[in-house]
Amino acid sequence: MKLWSGRFGKETDALVNDFNASIQFDQRLYKEDIAGSIAHATMLGDCGIISKEDVAAIVEGLNGILADIEAGKVEFTADNEDIHMNIESLLTARIGQAGKRLHTARSRNDQVAVDFRLYVRNEIPTIVDQILHLQSVLCAQAEKYQTAVMPGYTHLQRAQPISFAQHLMAYAAMLSRDVTRLLDCQKRMNECPLGSGALAGTTYPIDRWETAKALGFDAPMGNSLDGVSDRDYALEFLSALSVLMMHLSRFAEEVILWCSWEFKFIDLDDAYSTGSSIMPQKKNPDVAELVRGKTGRVYGDLMSLLTAMKGIPLAYNKDMQEDKEPVFDAIDTVEMCLPVFAAMIDTMTVRTDNMRKAAGHGFINATDCADYLTKKGMPFRDAYTTVGHLVAQCTQTGITLEELPLNELQTISPLFEADVYDALNLENCMALRGSYGGPAVAETTRQIKAVRNFVAAHTR
Ligand code: ARG
Repeated sequence: MKLWSGRFGKETDALVNDFNASIQFDQRLYKEDIAGSIAHATMLGDCGIISKEDVAAIVEGLNGILADIEAGKVEFTADNEDIHMNIESLLTARIGQAGKRLHTARSRNDQVAVDFRLYVRNEIPTIVDQILHLQSVLCAQAEKYQTAVMPGYTHLQRAQPISFAQHLMAYAAMLSRDVTRLLDCQKRMNECPLGSGALAGTTYPIDRWETAKALGFDAPMGNSLDGVSDRDYALEFLSALSVLMMHLSRFAEEVILWCSWEFKFIDLDDAYSTGSSIMPQKKNPDVAELVRGKTGRVYGDLMSLLTAMKGIPLAYNKDMQEDKEPVFDAIDTVEMCLPVFAAMIDTMTVRTDNMRKAAGHGFINATDCADYLTKKGMPFRDAYTTVGHLVAQCTQTGITLEELPLNELQTISPLFEADVYDALNLENCMALRGSYGGPAVAETTRQIKAVRNFVAAHTR
C-alpha cells in the first residue's frame, strides 16, 4: 500500500506505477537521504516536536538501513516510488511507530531538494581533484618541452613560433577556470532547502539553522517556494561541466590531429590507443575521440535540464524528477573522461623533431622579419608589406625567408644586414617572445609555477 494512499479509492495502475517511479535512478541518493533524515529527526527532537526516544530509534534505524544498503542487503521497490519513500517504509518496518513520526514537518519536496543538493555538492571535490591531476600532468609534460619549437596556429595555418610547453599550458590555464567555476557553484549552492516543507514552510516550531548547520550548509534558503523549486545549482554545475568538456574536446581534437601522419607531433602510448579489425597498420586515438564525442552528451544533459525547467510554475512539479538522470550522466561521463585523458597525456611520446620540421615551413618567422625592419626604423606597416613581397617571392621558388641570400634581401631593403639571420632563427624568434604570458622559457617557467601553486592551493 502506498504511503500516500489515504484519499485514494483504487490501486495505482501498473503502468503508472512504473512510469511514476524514480527509484531505478534516485537510489543513488540513499546516503544523502539518510543524512538529511537524521538531521531532520535530531532537530525535531531538539525542538520538542518528537520525543528523544523516537529520535534515538529513528537514528539507529536509519544507520542500520544505511549499513544494509551498503552491504547490498536491501531491495528497493517501485511500489515505494522513490528513494525517500523506500527508506521511510524500511524504517517503519524496522522500528514501528517512531518511524511514522520522521516525516513530521517535512515534505518529499524539501527532502529531495536537500538530498540532490548534498549529492551535487559532494561530487564537486572529486571532479576538482581529477582536474588538478590533469593540470599536474600538463605541468610535468610542459617542463620537458619549454624549448621545443612548434608552429603556433591560427585558422589551422602556421602562424608564429611557440613552444610545446606554451601550447600545453594554455589548456592548464583553462582548467584553472574550470576548477574555480565549480568551486564558485559549490559556494553559491550551499544553502539548505530543508524546512521549506511542501512549499509553504510549516506550523511546527522547527529550527532551520540547526539542520542547515548539521548538513554543512552556510544557512537555510530564505524563501520556502524557492527552496523546493530551485535547481539553479544543478544547472550551474552542468554548465561548468559543459565548459570543462568543451575544453577537453578541443584538446582531444588537437591530440587526434597531432597523432595523424599529417602532423605526427605525438605518438600515443599503445595502452591508450586502439586498433582496427581490418587494417593491420592502424593505431587509432579512440580515447580522444570518445572524449570529444561524450562532450555532446554533457551538453545534452545541460539542455535536458534547462528545457525541463523552463516552463515549470512554482513550486514543485513532478517534471523536476527529470533533474537527476542528466546530472548523474554528466557526473559519470566527466569522472570517466578526466582520468583517462590525463593518463593519455601523461604517457604520450612527443616528436619534437617533427614539430621543429613543421615550424621550418610556413613562414612563421615572417612577423619577426617585419619586426626586424621596424626595429631598424621602417614603419611597421611598410615592413609588413615588404615581407609580404618576400614571402610571395619565396613561395614561387620554394624556399624559406632565411634561405634568401643577403644581397637579395638588400635589393628589397637596404635595412637588411647580416644579423637578419639571427632574427629569423626560429629558436630566437620564440625565445624573444618574452612578453608576459608569452612562449619564452622564462614565461613558460612562470606559468608552470603559477599552475603548480594553484594545484597545491586547491589540493585537499
Ligand atoms: N521522486 C520525487 C522527485 O525526484 C520526489 C519528490 C516528489 N514529490 C512529490 N510531491 N511528488 O522529484
